[in-house]
Amino acid sequence: MKIFYIDLDGTLLKKPDYNFTSTDVKALKKAQERGAKFGIASGRSHVEIDYLEREHGLTSNLTIGLNGMVVKKDQDLIISKLDQEVLDVLLKHNIEFEAQDGGNRVFSSQEEHDFIPKVLGTNMFVTRELEKFDIKKIVIRQLFNERPLDEIKGIIEGACSARYNYFCIDNKTIEIVRKDVSKGNAIKEHFSDSEVIAIGDSHNDREMILLADQGYIMRNALPELREELKGRGAIEIGDVFEAVEVEIADIKGVLFDLDGVIADTAKYHYLAWREVAKRYDIELCEGFNENLKGVSRRESLEKILGIKNIVLPEEEFKSVLKEKNELYINYLEELGEDSILPGIKEFLIDLKRSNKRVAVASASKNAPYILEKLELLKYIDYIADPGSIERGKPEPDIFLDAARGIGLKTDEVVGIEDSQAGVDALYRANMLSIGIGDLRNSLYNLESTGELLDKKTRRLIFKG
Ligand code: BG6
Ligand code: MG
Repeated sequence: MKIFYIDLDGTLLKKPDYNFTSTDVKALKKAQERGAKFGIASGRSHVEIDYLEREHGLTSNLTIGLNGMVVKKDQDLIISKLDQEVLDVLLKHNIEFEAQDGGNRVFSSQEEHDFIPKVLGTNMFVTRELEKFDIKKIVIRQLFNERPLDEIKGIIEGACSARYNYFCIDNKTIEIVRKDVSKGNAIKEHFSDSEVIAIGDSHNDREMILLADQGYIMRNALPELREELKGRGAIEIGDVFEAVEVEIADIKGVLFDLDGVIADTAKYHYLAWREVAKRYDIELCEGFNENLKGVSRRESLEKILGIKNIVLPEEEFKSVLKEKNELYINYLEELGEDSILPGIKEFLIDLKRSNKRVAVASASKNAPYILEKLELLKYIDYIADPGSIERGKPEPDIFLDAARGIGLKTDEVVGIEDSQAGVDALYRANMLSIGIGDLRNSLYNLESTGELLDKKTRRLIFKG
């Protein structure tokens, strides 16, 4: 069983307004439907967490406080016995104290607290009440005690068994902390037979990320921490849903776009269209060209002419299309091994080796020709034919056809796209997508195809 063990502030709760995002909530609900468990590891108290659960309808299967205390498991509030060992000594020597639970909620022998209404005042009462909570940390403040620090230190030293550490924080404060407490230890203690996926963003989460079977570190974490954890196997993510989707996906095949994903040919389309557009006094720029990516030849020309509201008679329109394609084919003369984008060949070899199915879903009618020229046909099980598909990207049709072509369901494939139209098509097809470049609606974006060989994609597709 997989268990997602997630920090709240800065991770599941997004800065600056500390709110859940609906994509994260949806992904976690989906994970739960598929039998995974979801736990919160946070310094917040269970009261706040209950509220968050009620607000967003997402139930934590277990809630663990900052110091590793299990606050809640499924529906039960966990009440474990307070370890009396140290407290007995403190009480015997009349040393007053504060005790903290995993959520850093403070119970003191002097202050009133909403958990222990009114009747505070005597140590004994506090102690009895505290038995309800799993106290992880006791803080002794000189403030409460007229006694010299050394005397208190001596008493504590005697009281501390192998299970405790004590620290003199300053000359007014001593902390006694159980050695086994931390979010990380709680993982080992409670979920040794599950596959733990830990997601966090701060130093408090460091240990749990390292101890998990797979750790994820948020991009908003401090650079030093992020780099350290990445160096030790953690995966960097921008949003929680990325990690959840990567972990629960069961990918059996990959759908590739061609131009700009497999082959470095997007630039030739652009050059050819620029030449054609010039004849109509239209100056194409790279920004506008983004709207042409993934779009069919015919529709591309309509968009270009639309800049100047030009409508051509069908005959002329067709001859311009032909001309553009001839220009494009001329550029393709330059095609060679170097035109395969970084990492693609290795990635295709890995897919073949792992028995994953591969389809190409490109709007280009030149796809078979290009793939043959690049000697990549042997890695590809199916090429969708854009000529037989009525609605182009961003409609989902070509990707649905491609998945069907390799005999897979929509949730068994992931698409790789460099165009917004393509990512939108995958989104509408209900398929996961990896974007190359800065795109919306994708599961995650990579700066270049070379990153397809990095850990996140490997984990998504090969589960390795
Ligand atoms: C897509 C390209 O892959 O194919 C578009 O991103 C292109 O720029 C479209 O217009 C159609 O290609 P072709 O080769 O059939 O003109
Ligand atoms: Mg493309």
